[in-house]
Amino acid sequence: MKLYNIVFSPTGGTKQVADCFTGALEGDVTTVDLTDSKQDFRTVSLTKEDVAVISVPSYGGRVPAVVAERLGMVHGNGARAVLVCVYGNRAYEDTLVEL
Ligand SMILES: Cc1cc2nc3c(=O)[nH]c(=O)nc-3n(C[C@H](O)[C@H](O)[C@H](O)COP(=O)(O)O)c2cc1C
Repeated sequence: MKLYNIVFSPTGGTKQVADCFTGALEGDVTTVDLTDSKQDFRTVSLTKEDVAVISVPSYGGRVPAVVAERLGMVHGNGARAVLVCVYGNRAYEDTLVEL
């Protein structure tokens, strides 16, 4: 089993939370930085035994469009996921449902 820290964090707040969360779990952590526009996310491939902690900020109560696009390129292959949403104390509305 591998532990993946998949995170989008333009100003660093979501990454702080994601690092704290994944750091508290067992295992070596592989970070996938969805903020990095130069990465080819189609090369990221998980297995059924892996766990992905996927952390995003809420934008307008939703998953940021660019996150949906980049995350859609990742091959999940049935890995289990823990979903984390960081927000600015207004409301996260549909972010977790959409994620
Ligand atoms: C374009 C934009 C839209 C946002 N929309 C919301 C929102 O709907 N609700 C909310 O509570 N915070 C909202 N925020 C605040 C972010 O969710 C919050 O600042 C988050 O921590 C930023 O994450 P980051 O530090 O990883 O970039 C918004 C921020 C931006 C830049």
